[in-house]
Amino acid sequence: SIVPVILAGGSGTRLWPISRDSLPKQFLPLSTSGNTLYQDTLKRVAPGETFTAPLIVTNEEFRFFAQRQAREIGIEPTVVLEPVRRDSAPALLAATLLAQQLHGEEAFILVLAADHVIGDEASFRKACRKAMNAAELGHIVTFGITPTEARSSYGYIRRGSAVNGGSAARVETFAEKPSVDVARTYIDEGYLWNSGNFLFRADVMMAEAEQFEPAICGAVRHAVAHSTGDLGFCRLGPQFASAPAVSIDYAVMERTSRAAVVEGAFPWSDVGSWKALHEISEADEDGNVLRGPVTVMDAKSSYFHSEGPLVAAIGVEGVSVIATGDAVLVMPSERSEDVKKLVASMKSQQ
Ligand code: GDD
Ligand code: MG
Repeated sequence: SIVPVILAGGSGTRLWPISRDSLPKQFLPLSTSGNTLYQDTLKRVAPGETFTAPLIVTNEEFRFFAQRQAREIGIEPTVVLEPVRRDSAPALLAATLLAQQLHGEEAFILVLAADHVIGDEASFRKACRKAMNAAELGHIVTFGITPTEARSSYGYIRRGSAVNGGSAARVETFAEKPSVDVARTYIDEGYLWNSGNFLFRADVMMAEAEQFEPAICGAVRHAVAHSTGDLGFCRLGPQFASAPAVSIDYAVMERTSRAAVVEGAFPWSDVGSWKALHEISEADEDGNVLRGPVTVMDAKSSYFHSEGPLVAAIGVEGVSVIATGDAVLVMPSERSEDVKKLVASMKSQQ
């Protein structure tokens, strides 16, 4: 069986003003199912024949969201709490060590981002089976997605020779967050996007991490050795704070020679912007999505989301309007990648 590890500690600003540092997008009910993205992720790997109970890694701030939202859908996870945020490598490695304690040195681990939408669960499971074959041979397996545009917020993967009869390929190059210009050349050369989900054998990941990031491994081992537990929670020791903050993509994936990639045929979105959310939501015949108290006249291809005030619009096209109790965002939907910058500039003015 496979141990699901869900990384749920990231903070999001790209869906501001709904998503905040104090309530990131994985815990918001953004899915068309009415669930949160985190709940959809939990359901994708529900305990049963294939998967054990999941390990959720998050921070103290989000502990109640993580546990309550799991209980709402009938899942009792172990919530692993970081004393501070140290990006994804320390979180992933702490979970890997804990999984080894619970399920053995050679446990197989499926790491999932908590905030992605996957459109076809059957196709996802098929990709997992292929990935499992490669992981059994000692590969750290990524799920590759066919790119649709040159974005600098993703990892890019160049495929090499086939593994195990072709269900996976060795990763020849893994390039995290290239510039848009470089991303364009990668797309021309047939690179895939890294979806940010990984399948591997625990001992393989630990050996690679030990080689490339001994400081992270040292800190994380201490933190796990000094962890304390109570019902459903595992609180990592304070040594976790001394781990360098690095993502798993830079820490291991760019450097390891053991990476392999399985092509994910499933529709995938990391819901990285309001435009992306618009694209995966069901629109009316004019291409509009209206959420909350919203009234429009002659609007086209626009996204409206209100959590309080009545929002009314006339004659607009291709815009996004997001209203909460204390903030309103208006922009051409094409500019939605810039929300991150806007939030950063507001923070620096505070
Ligand atoms: N527990 C914990 N602690 N989780 C974290 C932390 C942390 O400090 N930082 C990030 N995460 C979680 C996020 O919640 C998310 O589920 C996952 O780790 C990935 O982190 P992101 O910050 O969203 O990474 P990214 O989107 O910039 O890049 C990654 O995902 C892309 C696809 O969406 C990379 O893997 C890219 O290569 C990939 O293309
Ligand atoms: Mg992300």
